[in-house]
Amino acid sequence: MLRRCVTEMSENYTMQDLVRVKVVSDYDQMSDVASELVIGLLKQRPQSVIGFATGGTPVGLYKRLVSAYERRDIDFSQVTTFNLDEYLGLERSNPNSYCYYMYENLFSLVNVRHENVFIPDGMSQSPERACEEYENAILHAGGIDLQILGIGSNGHIGFNEPGTAFGCSTHIVALADETVKANARFFDSDELVPRHAISMGIKSIMRARQIVHSRPKKAHAMARALPH
Ligand code: PGA
Repeated sequence: MLRRCVTEMSENYTMQDLVRVKVVSDYDQMSDVASELVIGLLKQRPQSVIGFATGGTPVGLYKRLVSAYERRDIDFSQVTTFNLDEYLGLERSNPNSYCYYMYENLFSLVNVRHENVFIPDGMSQSPERACEEYENAILHAGGIDLQILGIGSNGHIGFNEPGTAFGCSTHIVALADETVKANARFFDSDELVPRHAISMGIKSIMRARQIVHSRPKKAHAMARALPH
């Protein structure tokens, strides 16, 4: 049974070849495996482009990256980062924004250059244009070398809810009720949870050269996402 799993994906292989599943015993071990992949990549290619995710899943990974940085094992000075998604209508300084989360859990704790940090602008006056510019910025950076992913209980990745077209690049999404409910735990009341977000699309995510996809306690969603 898949209790915890980490999968890696890359291009240039058939679907069966390109997904590797690793079942581990607990959250710490899952975070160890994910951090080994990221640390290995950063050592090999210090100018890597990394796609980051928010939520509970990658917190252990980020702690390990901060420790590796403090041990001087890795350096973020040449790294470029792209985040998967951001709520529409939340200031970056709002503790529930994904920008705030990333600075609190990782970016303020390592030497990443702020000009190399890309997070969709949830306060843009022109969200459609912000989506287009975000997608262009990913392409301009040479694409994402490694994308970190979690999975929602309804199977969403980023904020791509079930049924999202595979050909979607960065776009504006209406959050499913299930997602709003799941995220309400972080807000003072359900009414404060934004109903819309900007999210990288499935196409943007699948263009990443490697994906680390992990989630404890959502084996049902993960199992359905894997090729049979
Ligand atoms: P989680 O969220 O990491 O907090 O489980 C993942 C998601 O909903 O995409």
